[in-house]
Amino acid sequence: MNESSIGEPSEKLRADLAEEAHVWLSDLEVWRRSPVLSADETDRIRTIRHPDAQMAFVAGRSLLRVALSHYHDVEPTAWEFAASRLGRPELSAPVPLARLRFNLTHTRGLAACVVTSTADCGIDVEQLERPLKPLRIAEHSFAAEELHDLENRTDGEVRERFFTYWTLKEAYYKARGSGIPFRMTGARFELESPARIAFAPTVEEDAMAGEWQFALTRPTAAHVMAVALRPGTDRRFAIRCFSHRPTNTGPDFAETPLTPVRVTTTEAES
Ligand SMILES: CC(C)(COP(=O)(O)OP(=O)(O)OC[C@H]1O[C@@H](n2cnc3c(N)ncnc32)[C@H](O)[C@@H]1OP(=O)(O)O)[C@@H](O)C(=O)NCCC(=O)NCCS
Repeated sequence: MNESSIGEPSEKLRADLAEEAHVWLSDLEVWRRSPVLSADETDRIRTIRHPDAQMAFVAGRSLLRVALSHYHDVEPTAWEFAASRLGRPELSAPVPLARLRFNLTHTRGLAACVVTSTADCGIDVEQLERPLKPLRIAEHSFAAEELHDLENRTDGEVRERFFTYWTLKEAYYKARGSGIPFRMTGARFELESPARIAFAPTVEEDAMAGEWQFALTRPTAAHVMAVALRPGTDRRFAIRCFSHRPTNTGPDFAETPLTPVRVTTTEAES
């Protein structure tokens, strides 16, 4: 697919959300000189101690605001958000335009958000070189089968496999808005068949596997990204991706192919 510019707010883009979910991507630095924040977000930066975390917050919120203004003729700084009972930010104003759902993620070098019309959605991006001990974390946070899978990987494979499970789990819990539990054993993923993701939630998780759709992709060579969507039973969204591109005239986005490394499979499809 050729890159095509996404310009003015578009009713068509909004209508497309009936059948699609949209992922918006940018690196962090593009927002440093011209952040797009509300007054309370500007105040909030002062409460964030670490400069990297400040930059991630600025980039994430700026990307989100500019992305949302592609669906409605609303100034990016005018969108208002309110946290759900469990802390998940949702659109609260301007009403009644706020019929969009979103989720946001940021890590070193990349910010991403996913937008749907009403469906639950979650997104997580992680940088592969992030310093951590994959097996140590998997021992207490992953299901036994997932840990077993990691233990049978070569040293070179463990890290990417770990982040595949991790981003899928985190995207799922973010879509549910419940916060990330210390033990993520209830939402189990199977990655045995190449290019496929099977989702096997436990009874305690209170989730129906067939309602969920997952996609895993590598937006850059250094990042793994997972998207979790809940279109409902027997439904699948097409997932489109819009990437920031630098121009002299301000933030501009172009549609870019989102090449999934893995997608959900159900028994019927496998
Ligand atoms: C909030 C949380 C989901 C963020 O995860 P993370 O890996 O640090 O960060 P990500 O970059 O992927 O996502 C951050 C964004 O998620 C969104 N978010 C915040 N709370 C959320 C929730 N409950 N559900 C979904 N999304 C949430 C926000 O937009 C946030 O970005 P912002 O603060 O800049 O607006 C996670 O820290 C969490 O679950 N916290 C609450 C519970 C908790 O602390 N559990 C730890 C037990 S060990």
